Amino acid sequence: MVKGYEAKGMEKEVKWWQTAVVYQIYPRSFQDSDGDGIGDLRGIINRIDYLKLLGITAIWLSPVYKSPNDDNGYDISDYQDIMDEFGTMADMEELLAKANEASIKIVMDLVVNHTSDEHKWFIEAKKSRDNAYRDYYIWRDPVDGAEPNELGSIFSGSAWEFDEASGQYYLHLFSKRQPDLNWENEKVRREVYDMMNFWLDKGVGGFRMDVIDLIGKLPDQGITGNGPKLHEYLQEMNRETFGSHDVLTVGETWGATPEIAKQYSDPKRNELSMVFQFEHIGLDQQEGKDKWDLKPLDIAELKEVLVKWQTSLGDEGWNSLFWNNHDLPRIVSRWGNDRELREQCAKMFAILLHIMKGTPYIYQGEEIGMTNCPVTSIDEVEDIEAVNMYHDRLAKGYAVEDIIRSINAKGRDNARTPMQWDDSVNGGFTSGTPWLHVNPNYAEINVQRNLDNPDSIFYTYKRLIQLRKDNPIIVWGDFELIAHTVKEVFAYYRLYNGEKWLVAANMSEREHAFGVEEDADEILISNYNRSSIDIRQLTLQPYEAFAVKVRG
Ligand code: NOJ
Repeated sequence: MVKGYEAKGMEKEVKWWQTAVVYQIYPRSFQDSDGDGIGDLRGIINRIDYLKLLGITAIWLSPVYKSPNDDNGYDISDYQDIMDEFGTMADMEELLAKANEASIKIVMDLVVNHTSDEHKWFIEAKKSRDNAYRDYYIWRDPVDGAEPNELGSIFSGSAWEFDEASGQYYLHLFSKRQPDLNWENEKVRREVYDMMNFWLDKGVGGFRMDVIDLIGKLPDQGITGNGPKLHEYLQEMNRETFGSHDVLTVGETWGATPEIAKQYSDPKRNELSMVFQFEHIGLDQQEGKDKWDLKPLDIAELKEVLVKWQTSLGDEGWNSLFWNNHDLPRIVSRWGNDRELREQCAKMFAILLHIMKGTPYIYQGEEIGMTNCPVTSIDEVEDIEAVNMYHDRLAKGYAVEDIIRSINAKGRDNARTPMQWDDSVNGGFTSGTPWLHVNPNYAEINVQRNLDNPDSIFYTYKRLIQLRKDNPIIVWGDFELIAHTVKEVFAYYRLYNGEKWLVAANMSEREHAFGVEEDADEILISNYNRSSIDIRQLTLQPYEAFAVKVRG
């Protein structure tokens, strides 16, 4: 039982991940220690003290396994070894030990929908139709001399790649160098479970499960997400691996509704701890199109979606809270102001999200208000998703300027530019040539400047993390929207054991009037440093946000 967290008087066991705040590290861009321009494990070890100061409970470590880096580590060629650029297994063990000393758990990225084409299983599988590993992947005969069906890859083009030597196609829902594993094959599942147990034995704090919604796919029927056997596999995985460990398991679950989220995360079903779902993230793309087809965000829709997720899971599910990750543009640039109001705006997004119910995730650099980094040509882009899309759309006749506009709005490199530590060359990320350009604003936006300023975005995050640790109301309280505000103001109550908190956030650059028929007792956090707040009647400043205790 986590101290101070008696759950609503119910005899429910409180899990550490319910009170946790997770920090995501994209190792390639976090901290280089050897001057090769690529972040590494030693770089992370050297920054554990920084993360301890921030106060986070766990690190979600994007993949560090052996990989040819077609998709920056999400294409794994050996699950039980470390990528050369990142270090060695001894470094990984040292990282686990150092993190453990700082009471920080390490949650590994588990990428088991697919492997790299350089994984030994695939190298074997390709050798012949009767190879023992052939059925580890998904092979189909051509139909009328072409692809078996019209399934498309998430990284553009067909999801089927022809293998000349054996005359069959294999499935790849991502790049052709990421062949999909055949989860219907019991041997594949056994290999995955053994590998997970290898990492559990090393003391990892859990798994973030990459596109886990895809493992139950039925490609012949065009079904990819949420296939019929998905939950059977997850229950089996739970039984065979982490079910007997006190770990965090979070599924990357695109397209989950609250009902689907309950299937994954209802404790009674013995699957995962929580979902990481993207419904709010899809709101600025055109209906039925893909992420590159932009439309402006409607704040009313954002509120509706976030409120739905706050109120619909009850005790039958658990959700993650996030604005950013390594696949998404930076939130201050995307839905806010990354210029003159950047500081207020970054703090507003933090306050609004971190007092909600769920487990918050902070993506590296978010805590210092890092911004998107626009490009002017495709030559500056590293990300395979954007590069493939560029060529695909160019061939379809799109204008170059429109494609680049989409990449600048939504491209994944926006969040992958190196971490900005200080105002020294390359922002202190590397002494060599960084693998991806450093955002030129690093002299203004960096960790050192944040640490030197008690009013910085960093200290807002630190305070929010501490508030969550100290106040069960954030973890367990009921959520109630304050509905009578203008659209741009997102305000809500949290209620727990007779206590009531109010959170108000102005999501716009304009002032807005706000008021409720109550009084504030204590200011918990305010991004305008107000020393008193009359919640009966006030004018919210651009991107202003605060949380107060309401007088009982
Ligand atoms: C989701 C990951 O977050 C993303 O970075 C990756 O490209 C795909 N899954 C494929 O593994």
